[in-house]
This record gives sequence, C-alpha cells and structure tokens, in this order.
Amino acid sequence: MARILVIDDNTDLLQMIRLLLEERGGHEVILAAEGEDGLRKALENPPDLAIVDIMMPGMNGYEVCRRLRQEPATASIPIIVLTARGQDIDRKTALEAGADLHIPKPVTMSELLERVNGLLDRGRTSPAIQLGGTIAFLSLRGGVGCTTLAVNMALFLAQQAKQNTCLIDLSPSSGNVALHLGLRPDPNWSALALLSTGIGTETIATYLLNHPSGLTILAAPFIPVIGEGLPRDKVLAALHALRHNFALLVIDLPSILNDATMAALEQADTIALVATADPASIQATIGTLQALKGFGEKIRLILNHTAPGQPATPKALERVFRRPIDSVVPFDPAQAQALARGKPLVYTSPNSPLAQAVTAFVPALQPASTSRSATG
Ligand SMILES: Nc1ncnc2c1ncn2[C@@H]1O[C@H](COP(=O)(O)OP(=O)(O)O)[C@@H](O)[C@H]1O
Ligand SMILES: [Mg+2]
Repeated sequence: MARILVIDDNTDLLQMIRLLLEERGGHEVILAAEGEDGLRKALENPPDLAIVDIMMPGMNGYEVCRRLRQEPATASIPIIVLTARGQDIDRKTALEAGADLHIPKPVTMSELLERVNGLLDRGRTSPAIQLGGTIAFLSLRGGVGCTTLAVNMALFLAQQAKQNTCLIDLSPSSGNVALHLGLRPDPNWSALALLSTGIGTETIATYLLNHPSGLTILAAPFIPVIGEGLPRDKVLAALHALRHNFALLVIDLPSILNDATMAALEQADTIALVATADPASIQATIGTLQALKGFGEKIRLILNHTAPGQPATPKALERVFRRPIDSVVPFDPAQAQALARGKPLVYTSPNSPLAQAVTAFVPALQPASTSRSATG
C-alpha cells in the first residue's frame, strides 16, 4: 500500500481515480482539486507518489512539479503527469518540469493502475540482487537471441528485482528492443547524435521511453543509420548521464565492434556474450573471445537455444571455447509469440523455460570481484 496524492480540477475524474487506487490498488489516496492545495498537502505529509493534471485554474501542473522537485521532502517522489496535452512538446515540458511519467488522457483505469504500481515498484530495491551497474549483451552473429535475453533480463531486474533499470538499444540497424516490448521507438537516440551541447541527466530523460513494468528504455531509431552509429563521445556521455539516473543499465549491443560498441564494452561491469550451438555462432564466439581478450574477466558466456532439437552438450562446447559456459537458455516455443505480441516472457509468463533461465543467470552476471570463483 502506498499514499498517493492526486491533483486534478476535474472532480469526477478525481473520484474515479480515488475509487481505482483505493478499491483495486489497495492504496491510500489524498485528493486536491487545485495546484496550490495539492502542493500544501504534499508538503504537509509527503506522499509516496503524486498524479498531477496540467491544465488547472491557478497554479498549473508544470509549476506543481517544479515546486515538488524544489522541496527536499518531495524532491524524489515519483510524479505522474496525467494530462489532455498529449503532444511530444507537452511530454518534453512535463519531463523537464520534473515528472517521471507523462500519460496522455484518455487512459484506461487498468493502464493507470499498472503505471502507478510500476513506478512505485521501481523505487523499491531488492537487497538480494547486487549486480554490476552496467551489463552489456553482445553477439557478433545476429539472430542468436542477444536482444531477447537483454530485454528479458532488463524486465526481470526492473519488475521482479525492483531495480531502477534502463535498457539501452545501441543498434544502428533498426534495433528491436522497442519491438520486443511492444513500444514505438519514438523518441530514440538518433537526435542525440546531432546534439551540439553536452548530454546532461535532464536532457537524456527526454529521450527515454517508459514501459508499464517500470522499465525505462533508450530505444534505437527505426530507420537504419547510414554510416557509423552513435559516436564514441556521445555513447560515453549518454551512459554517464544514465548511470546518474538509474541503478542498473542493460545494453543491447549491435553485432559489430564499432566505436559505440567498444565504448559500451569499456564501461560495462559485465559483458554477457551470447552464442548458439551452430557453426557460424561458434566461430563468431571463438573470434570474439580472442578479440576481447582484454575484457576476459568480465565476460560471461551464455549458450542460448533458439531452435528446437537436441542441444549440444555444453561440455563439448566448453572445450571448443576453452572456457566455461556460465548459463544455458533452453529453446522456448512460446518466444515466437512473445515477440509477435510485444510481451516478453519474463513479463507475461515468469514460469516459462526462457524466463526461468534468465532469472537463473542473474547470479552469474555479478562482477568478478563479488561472485564465482570455482567455475573458472
Ligand atoms: N531461447 C529461445 N527460444 C526460442 N526462440 C528464441 C530464443 N531466444 C531467441 N529466440 C528467437 O530467436 C530470434 C532471434 O532473437 P534476437 O533476440 O532478435 O537475436 P539477436 O538480437 O541476437 O539478433 C527471435 O525470433 C527470437 O524470438
Ligand atoms: Mg538484436
């Protein structure tokens, strides 16, 4: 249960939201029909989350957000802006004013509740999980499940492990992270490449997408980038800003060791190298392990079965790779539909084989200093 403050001049909507949050959400709700009154109530007894309308007589919602952010008692509470102003510029203004989420009206009550709970969950941390701050998923052979595993891992960390997590798609070739999550990749990082100013923590926030689970995403552009993707300095600046805003970063890397990939690999605490048991992937994996010898300590090897059939024994592959395999993910027949529906298995079917395998390899992702000693 959480205390939620709702500020909206539409009293019918206020009552509807109160009913929803109290009856279906089990939360305690405080209502205010004016900005000034809402702000006073927030400062008197800070809520766990605030839902703020924008167009109200007197103090508008943007001003409410700014004032909440200025006061130490409310500076870090999650704020949802729920508004009829649904344009990109409105979203940008809301985020710049300090909102965590911008939800355009109309919104279904189920979706609102899902968003509220997602945002509340994001703030709660699980002491059981102590991961490195940045985990990069890599495979120089496409189609081995790199994106699938990165997306499911990020969702697990955000939703079940309750870590404040950002998933970053660095692919310059129409990356699929947003597709896996059923989101439109807009905004995405394409405009970052053109920025002449630095990338601060507030700037980066305007380029992010929100998933109802509480996971935040920096998506890749739908239209492939001709030439190099994000330059090295932009990748470093973006990761720096994101690390400031999030406890964990999960990066889905493109299948190429370009400047963007190398910058991300250097920054990563853990590199999850994904392979399948077919000859092309085996060759790419052996080559990658050699090319990235300098990163040896932080590499974890994941064998993913993207096709049904007899899995090759990890033992034989370990001899070929000359290193242990840290995790094996079985073929999951439900994955094809999960991708088609934009609903990853960790999100919809936590008991599925793929979701279980993703959850099981969380301990293997811990940085070398805090984990495994016997496997090497
Ligand atoms: N364990 C698995 N079981 C079944 N299908 C899988 C599994 N892992 C990935 N896939 C499927 O394999 C295809 C390639 O996955 P993707 O994540 O896009 O690979 P990559 O990012 O390496 O190119 C997708 O259609 C995905 O749904
Ligand atoms: Mg991919």
